[in-house]
Amino acid sequence: MVVRVSTAAPPKIDLFRIPTRIMFGRGVALKVAEPLQQLGAKRVLVVTDPGVIKVGLVEPTLERLRDAKIAYEVYDGVVPDPTMDDVARCYERAKEMGADALVAVGGGSSIDTAKMAATLMTNGGTVLDYVGIDKVPKPAAPVVAIPTTAGTGAEITINSVIADPAQHKKLVIISPNATAFFALEDPDMTKGLPPFLTAITGMDTLVHAVESFTNKSTYPMTMALAYEAIRDAAWALPRAVKDGSDMEARERMLRAVISSSLAFSNTRLGNVHAMALPLGGWCHVAHGTAVAILLPHVMDFNQSAAAERFDAVGEAMGVGKDGKRAVRRTFDLVGAIGIPKRLSEVGVTEDEIGPMAKDAMLSGNILVNPRTTALEDVEALYRSAL
Ligand SMILES: [Fe+2]
Repeated sequence: MVVRVSTAAPPKIDLFRIPTRIMFGRGVALKVAEPLQQLGAKRVLVVTDPGVIKVGLVEPTLERLRDAKIAYEVYDGVVPDPTMDDVARCYERAKEMGADALVAVGGGSSIDTAKMAATLMTNGGTVLDYVGIDKVPKPAAPVVAIPTTAGTGAEITINSVIADPAQHKKLVIISPNATAFFALEDPDMTKGLPPFLTAITGMDTLVHAVESFTNKSTYPMTMALAYEAIRDAAWALPRAVKDGSDMEARERMLRAVISSSLAFSNTRLGNVHAMALPLGGWCHVAHGTAVAILLPHVMDFNQSAAAERFDAVGEAMGVGKDGKRAVRRTFDLVGAIGIPKRLSEVGVTEDEIGPMAKDAMLSGNILVNPRTTALEDVEALYRSAL
């Protein structure tokens, strides 16, 4: 009997994971006690930052916890771009109070801090033990996440980003065990977000959608989600920036966050995100600003390699089935919503391009980018955006 061994590449497998339960709608943040009661949580650490407390977004949560007779303490030490030490501080606080669950109220920094502190609560160790893909052995302690921005999708995604300032690096932890248990997606929580923060966090959502839709690992189910996210974000973002009280725009932005997060959690991203992390690590450019400036340049680079998909991006953006027009529309959008157009405007200099490009090439997102990308391409892209 002759056994034939196939030398063909193994078939591509599409794996779709949604570890987080999601509730969407105006007022759902006020249901915070329900998932905690389902879990039998008795002692909760509320993870947030002083700015979110100051604008009054935390107090209604605390009131609901008091009503439900759930004991709580507030940890307001979250900082932008949290580091491993910041996560450790939050974890120590949770341990001290004997917390059995965390509630994160805030943007991506609060939610990522809570997700990683919750990971340490059940797995021990430090953040460094879990960097990479699927390195977290046990499910994190339960986190109920209430986003106050429509942007990163940290409340849904299996990704967390933690800074390692000593190495000028952003560490990425990707695991279905390091996620929020429940996301309460409440447009009312985003209506006070100032225009610039609305713009940069919203652009992050649009980038997640465009990269997930066009990259090499996308498939029909993720494409459907990402297409809807591009449609919603392209329509709603300029409106939400112009008038924060436009609740239809706020709702559609948050819908875009949900669909883009479900998509990119299952496909990874592309060159924009590979290149944005070093901009944070080396030059401290905020993530949303970095991805917004890079997006049109990277779309321009990628467009010919996935022409049909970029044509569909144009259609979703409302400029017709034309990938080149989608690129132009994106350049215009960045300027129209008040984001700097050049990296040099946010403090990046030519001599930082070399080390940043080397770091960017280490990202797994380069491998799924629609157009095959070499170090020289990344350097040229940084230069074109400079
Ligand atoms: Fe992002």
